[in-house]
Amino acid sequence: MSDKRLIWSGALAEKVAVITGSTKGIGFAIARRLAQDGAHVVISSRKQQNVNQAVATLQREGLSVTGTVCHVGKAEDREQLVSKALEHSGGVDFLVCNAAVNPLVGSILGTSEQIWDKILDVNVKSPALLLSQMLPHMEKRGKGAVILVSSVAAYLPLVELGVYNVSKTALLSLTRVLAMELAPKGIRVNSLVPGIIETDFSKVLHKNELTGNIVKALSMQRQVGFGQPEDCAGLASFLCSPDASYITGENIVVAGFSPRL
Ligand SMILES: NC(=O)c1ccc[n+]([C@@H]2O[C@H](COP(=O)([O-])OP(=O)(O)OC[C@H]3O[C@@H](n4cnc5c(N)ncnc54)[C@H](OP(=O)(O)O)[C@@H]3O)[C@@H](O)[C@H]2O)c1
Repeated sequence: MSDKRLIWSGALAEKVAVITGSTKGIGFAIARRLAQDGAHVVISSRKQQNVNQAVATLQREGLSVTGTVCHVGKAEDREQLVSKALEHSGGVDFLVCNAAVNPLVGSILGTSEQIWDKILDVNVKSPALLLSQMLPHMEKRGKGAVILVSSVAAYLPLVELGVYNVSKTALLSLTRVLAMELAPKGIRVNSLVPGIIETDFSKVLHKNELTGNIVKALSMQRQVGFGQPEDCAGLASFLCSPDASYITGENIVVAGFSPRL
């Protein structure tokens, strides 16, 4: 363990963190990191088998985690997630809204109304709806942190990613609006903006010539071309920690380059 990790160890002790879409990829890496830093973490995703597997893996590492099925687009699943989180100590400190979908790779103008609804429901509406369900239990703690997982596609859209680009830009606005609304309650809202991170979700981009060129031209040079889920986990832990207690409404990019001015 590095010196840096020793300093961080325990920064989130006695806290409860809920993470959507956390059975693999970026969500799983964040779950592991928040638990390593002392939080009790509630894992969730759509499939029971995936939840069981992720919980068992982290419990074997000695981490404090539980889990439940939660398809973020379903109100009853979100309610179940809230109940599961309350089992630990009756409140919630951190909510990481990480789950997202992109059922169609293709033109935005060729997208059916059904697909538009699905992407906006899962990627944009569900974080806000889950937060409203969770909020009374975060308010009880007096302060808290929310992280919305956006994407570098919010700044640099790829035509092939269609409506997904729009949904991720909308999350940046959601972050700002929620940060303002919740500041008086002591709840901070920030956005983690990953670049191309090597997961199942981004497989379609791994062989894409344009993204390959972007990564080559703009990103920090590494042995592995794309970012890894763990690259996002430290920022999530920092944003939850007391060291970020005066940071809210920010969108922070983890991409090996900056897509902004
Ligand atoms: N990977 C990248 O390059 C990249 C770049 C920018 C932004 N992001 C964002 O990062 C987040 C995570 O992506 P990832 O690459 O880590 O994906 P991933 O490896 O495919 O993992 C997705 C996770 O979300 C769960 N999930 C999918 N749909 C869900 C739903 N409707 N409700 C609840 N859980 C759901 C999956 O489990 P189940 O199948 O069991 O539901 C899985 O645990 C997403 O918001 C994505 O937009 C990723």
